[in-house]
Amino acid sequence: MLKAISFTSFISYTEHKHSLLRENDMIVQLAVIYYSATGTTYQIARAMEQGGQEAGAEVRFRKVRELAPDEAIASNQGWSQHRLETQNVEEAALADLEWADAIIFGAPTRYGLPAAQLKQFIDTTGGLWAQGKLVNKVVSSFTSAATAHGGHETTLTALNNTFYHWGSIIVAPGYADPIQFQMGNPYGTSFVSNNGELDPDETTLAAARFQARRVVEIAARLKGGSGELSRTV
Ligand SMILES: Cc1cc2nc3c(=O)[nH]c(=O)nc-3n(C[C@H](O)[C@H](O)[C@H](O)COP(=O)(O)O)c2cc1C
Repeated sequence: MLKAISFTSFISYTEHKHSLLRENDMIVQLAVIYYSATGTTYQIARAMEQGGQEAGAEVRFRKVRELAPDEAIASNQGWSQHRLETQNVEEAALADLEWADAIIFGAPTRYGLPAAQLKQFIDTTGGLWAQGKLVNKVVSSFTSAATAHGGHETTLTALNNTFYHWGSIIVAPGYADPIQFQMGNPYGTSFVSNNGELDPDETTLAAARFQARRVVEIAARLKGGSGELSRTV
């Protein structure tokens, strides 16, 4: 009888341990990777982080390395101030991409394209890409721009061009939530900053939180689904 009890408790202990492991396996790992010179895109990135956490993800919040010369940064008070304020934010590394189930990228619009700092980081992913390590990652993107017609969509779709090469799964916010009809950009959260003079409003931040939640929820479905997704690399 004693033996039977110990065996039963052993089984239930093992099941408990496995169910805890399964639970941990299901937690989505989200990397929010951004560039921001004067802080507008950074604020949207923080809302993405919050949305991801609200959806239950483990979030890594990372800035990409600054490339501009110190003199250029020093000549712009907003830029140098933001750099100082975010000096303790960890820099993105390739290991963050490998770790993540889902990645949200953000950069200000520069001449209708993502800022070079983010593109430079993206251009270091050749090794991961060659090993197929970006295949089936859930990805999404956001931006800020000075004007309404300054290139929000072109920046976001330019990022998507990279994601097609990676074989990642692009999750756009679409109009999948009422907040999208207010924010107005189905490609990804974006904000008209009037050259950094305006801070993202509550509609933009709420849309960002929604976008991150959606990314995490879809990544969770993929992660929790039975069977591996097909990839042969
Ligand atoms: C070199 C440069 C190019 C820019 N190009 C555009 C552009 O094509 N369209 C636009 O609307 N804003 C453009 N902007 C403005 C920034 O996209 C905008 O101020 C953005 O909100 C800044 O984000 P940040 O505060 O995160 O750096 C440009 C800014 C710089 C410095």
